[in-house]
Amino acid sequence: MILIDGKKAAAELRAELKEEVAELKSKHNKVPGLTVILIGDLTPSQIYVRNKEKSAKEVGLKSEVIKYPDSVEEKTVLEKIQELNSDETVSGILVQLPLPKHIDKQKVIEAINPSKDVDGFHPMNVGNLSSGYESSVPCTPLGCYLLIKKIEPNLSGKKAVVVGRSNLNGKPMTQLLLKENCTVTITHSKTKDLKAECLEADIIVAAVGIPELVRGDWVKKNAIVIDVGINKTDNGIVGDVHFDEVSENAKALTPVPGGVGPMTIACLLKNTIDCFKRSQI
Ligand code: GUN
Repeated sequence: MILIDGKKAAAELRAELKEEVAELKSKHNKVPGLTVILIGDLTPSQIYVRNKEKSAKEVGLKSEVIKYPDSVEEKTVLEKIQELNSDETVSGILVQLPLPKHIDKQKVIEAINPSKDVDGFHPMNVGNLSSGYESSVPCTPLGCYLLIKKIEPNLSGKKAVVVGRSNLNGKPMTQLLLKENCTVTITHSKTKDLKAECLEADIIVAAVGIPELVRGDWVKKNAIVIDVGINKTDNGIVGDVHFDEVSENAKALTPVPGGVGPMTIACLLKNTIDCFKRSQI
């Protein structure tokens, strides 16, 4: 079984991006900039944002974090986004989710200029991705996609099962696999026989947030299994895939942690650089 090393893949991607930033700097005499807006003091969000900032600086991006208290008014955030939209030194804008209840998530997402939407959450980018046009692609599914392609460069005709239908992961993951000519089945909490669906799959991407849902006898011999889950349990952090059982059957499997997670942040840096490049044309 191939243990897919997301840490190593992310480090390789960051090294490539670092070179690219240096080239862009010498060509344009400026570097791509990423601005993250962090609202409130949720610990996981703070950790994510700190890691994003650290990685952005490491590859040579201009990086800025704007922090607001939980009580910030929606209007203040929307005005800040407008300001960042017109700031030429800002290539990418990310508003860390989740947001406090009094702030309308969709309004915030739609306020971001689609060409600076490094999350790929703006309806314009969602639509472009589903139409097969150029777009920002959400970082986690993009990371999963790059890991899958490393194992199997030609995905044409493969059967893929995506477990979970979220806007963040399941739906964009499906679009990326479709673009590669996979036959994709999207499954979710109302799917009648999830095990039977998974058993058909050459590729499984599990992104539902249910600890160790995908068991060893759900997985065809030699399937590629990507685990997007990060679930806190009494036994520590586990994924959506039962690692020990599935590693008996799978051809390749991502661990949790150290699989998809590191690739997500590296892909955010990639998206920031891509937004910058598109803005220079
Ligand atoms: N919170 C958890 N994951 C994400 C993400 O990919 N983007 C944003 N903006 N917030 C998140």
